[in-house]
Amino acid sequence: MAHISLRQLLGLFILTVQSRSVTNAEDATKPNFILMMVDDLGIGDIGCYGNDTIRTPNIDRLAKEGVKLTQHVAAAPLCTPSRAAFMTGRHALRSGLGSTGRVQVILFLGASGGLPPNETTFAKLLQKQGYTTGIVGKWHLGVSCKSRNDHCHHPNSHGFDYFYGLPFTLFNGCKPGNSADVLGDLQELLWHIFMLLALAVLTLITAKITGILEISSRMLVFLVVVYILGFLTWYIPFAFLQTWNCILMRNQDVVEQPANLDTLTEKLMKEAEQFVERNQNRPFLLFLSLPHVHTPLFISKQFAGKSKHGLYGDNVEEVDWMIGRMVKTVEKLKLSERTLMYFTSDHGGDIWISDSHGHIGGWNGIYRGGKNMAGWEGGIRVPGIFRWTNRLPAGKIVNEPTSLMDIFPTVVNLAGGQLPNDRLVLVTH
Ligand SMILES: *[C@@H]1O[C@H](CO)[C@@H](O)[C@H](O)[C@H]1NC(C)=O
Ligand SMILES: *[C@@H]1O[C@H](CO)[C@@H](O)[C@H](O)[C@H]1NC(C)=O
Repeated sequence: MAHISLRQLLGLFILTVQSRSVTNAEDATKPNFILMMVDDLGIGDIGCYGNDTIRTPNIDRLAKEGVKLTQHVAAAPLCTPSRAAFMTGRHALRSGLGSTGRVQVILFLGASGGLPPNETTFAKLLQKQGYTTGIVGKWHLGVSCKSRNDHCHHPNSHGFDYFYGLPFTLFNGCKPGNSADVLGDLQELLWHIFMLLALAVLTLITAKITGILEISSRMLVFLVVVYILGFLTWYIPFAFLQTWNCILMRNQDVVEQPANLDTLTEKLMKEAEQFVERNQNRPFLLFLSLPHVHTPLFISKQFAGKSKHGLYGDNVEEVDWMIGRMVKTVEKLKLSERTLMYFTSDHGGDIWISDSHGHIGGWNGIYRGGKNMAGWEGGIRVPGIFRWTNRLPAGKIVNEPTSLMDIFPTVVNLAGGQLPNDRLVLVTH
């Protein structure tokens, strides 16, 4: 791909503006960053990318007042690898998170995998430039390595001064009453095995009763007990998945277990707003990483049943409202000219996922395929919008190919930091 880095594109605009408005205090030239990422949102779900039936006025307004990237791609069609690449500016392969196996994302909060401690995130580099850094929302890049709470992969260990949100991700089992989709096929396999074993035990009992087989009663009781214990090992872990995986943390502390989805949207927005308010007088970076519109879809009353595209459409419209709330906060605090706002999705929409009402995933417009489909464009095409009032031209459309991995050098450069020079990155200078 002939790559013009986003840093170069933005750098160009910044140079032209800086020559007009001379600023000498170093901090005045240091912009704040608010990076907003939606989970599983399709590029075709948004008004300014061609959707004429879902209402996304706030996202469309960001594009109107800023720069819209038309050829913006994620590094992978799944959460964990895409986010690892986003955070480090390097393909997930380099941090060991680019699995090609059946399972390509972190599946358990308690798993020992995650973004290795020796990887450098843009947040870490910004801390060195005097930034206060925060992430509100979903992380999904691991928590601990060796012990249950060494928190070596935790956002606090990866350059974020503040973390509030889901260290893992949402999955179906996070909503009470839903099946545990993460391990659905494993659960089914185990179910079949236990049914076969039940048949075997019953056969033995029948054989003993009818005298076909010499088998002691103690042996039979033993087999039945083993069977029941085995069955419990099938049942118990799945019953506890919600408690194990769906938790809310503030920094190192668990604040809700399991997380209550009914109040999640409001809590995340409050936390994001408070972070910006607390840090309005110093350079800050906020990564607002929405767990929406991943399943299980959960919705506030205000948006339920309002869109033309069912629960999924309602969700996209609520996300748009959340983005609008963030923009309003920035405007209320008069930070628009000092804040680069960015909007994107971690990868394409899920075109396969459905429930009894039909499809409940995103729409990738003209691009074929979607989430979890390596090789098809629908999986990696994402929206990309930048707004920085009076710095970036309003309504500009950039058709050069750009990647989520370009955010790393862009942010670091604008903050006055140095890129690591001991490793391979995507963008070369
Ligand atoms: C708008 O989004 C919905 C929901 O994802 C989708 O079904 C519809 O086809 C989209 N419309 C256009 C014009 O892309
Ligand atoms: C991090 O450590 C691993 C294991 O020692 C090594 O393979 C990898 O190259 C290191 N990465 C960086 C960026 O230093």
